Amino acid sequence: MEKIIMTLAELEAEAMRFAGTLAPSPRGATLVTLSGELGAGKTAFTKAVASALGVGETVTSPTFVLEKIYALPPGKHFDRLIHIDAYRLESGADLAPLGFDELMRSETNLILLEWPEKVRDALPEPSVHISIIAEPDGSRTVSYG
Ligand SMILES: Nc1ncnc2c1ncn2[C@@H]1O[C@H](COP(=O)(O)OP(=O)(O)O)[C@@H](O)[C@H]1O
Ligand SMILES: [Mg+2]
Repeated sequence: MEKIIMTLAELEAEAMRFAGTLAPSPRGATLVTLSGELGAGKTAFTKAVASALGVGETVTSPTFVLEKIYALPPGKHFDRLIHIDAYRLESGADLAPLGFDELMRSETNLILLEWPEKVRDALPEPSVHISIIAEPDGSRTVSYG
């Protein structure tokens, strides 16, 4: 599925719609990967998913801290939203210090990971892969796979 998004507000609405489609798998955490160039809107998309799931605190880019974990309010499918930015990682081995394997084991974890290309060798198949392309006119093409 592919969507053309004109504005940041539209991207946020799309991310909120997407958040509503997520359901846990009994096999472990739900992993959503987000690809796209710097500034494409991966973090903006994640922020809107967090907001849709009831994260009250401000979600900031984990580019420097690599990983942020947010508790979700009771009554949601998931207990925690984990936001990982793999931009600064060199290979999948760098995921180990983040406790990634452990995080993947809990079915109530929702993991959104930017830059899956950087850690491809250690990543399991994601539940959903999202690609965001910034077009020359400023619109975004969002595809789900
Ligand atoms: N249609 C749009 N969709 C998403 N972001 C947009 C759009 N138009 C402008 N922007 C801006 O682009 C930037 C995207 O940044 P960010 O989400 O941090 O990108 P990434 O995480 O992919 O590097 C934000 O500053 C946002 O305000
Ligand atoms: Mg980002």
